[in-house]
Amino acid sequence: MLEKDIEKVLVTQEEIREIASKLGKELTQEYQDKFPLVVGLLNGCVPFMGVLLGEMDMHLEVGFMDVSSYHGGIESSGDVKILKDLEISVHNRHILLAEDIVDTGRTIKVIRELLLYRGAASVKVVTLLDKPTGRVVEFVPDYIGKTIPKEFVVGFGLDYEEKYRNLPYVGVLKPEVYNK
Ligand code: PRP
Repeated sequence: MLEKDIEKVLVTQEEIREIASKLGKELTQEYQDKFPLVVGLLNGCVPFMGVLLGEMDMHLEVGFMDVSSYHGGIESSGDVKILKDLEISVHNRHILLAEDIVDTGRTIKVIRELLLYRGAASVKVVTLLDKPTGRVVEFVPDYIGKTIPKEFVVGFGLDYEEKYRNLPYVGVLKPEVYNK
């Protein structure tokens, strides 16, 4: 039913599994003895975090934040509002921020700086998708699943008007969907 709205698939289900497995191996090495706190930014992080956590072979803790950034304004204000905060302290903890996509870079940059300000021992970022052509602030994720071109993508956590997050792959919507 959802598939009929998709013009092309950018990252297949199989590719996502491979990405999670590869990144999971790297993260297992990096964080083996660090008892990291893996922080997902809701809601987009959920599917990717689900597959990634299963590939991280160590003790870790999981937490979530919900932040809203002001997209599409005339100016890039960089305002990020915290709708739900972490319930545990990040002081002296190694934090791994898990994202579905880094686009302008605003959300992740602000949250990374906030967690460092709160006393985290380290803050690194893992993202399923990186869209460097969308950047308005300087930011390079530490772990990148796949770099994508300047296209509006949905699926595997990414939404259009809150829909399509449950697509099991990442794709580009047909233009007529926007014009409905
Ligand atoms: C999306 C996405 C990232 C952010 C990336 O979240 O999940 O958190 O935007 O964009 P940026 O690099 O331009 O800041 P959104 O605020 O749309 O919330 P959602 O996760 O609930 O979709």
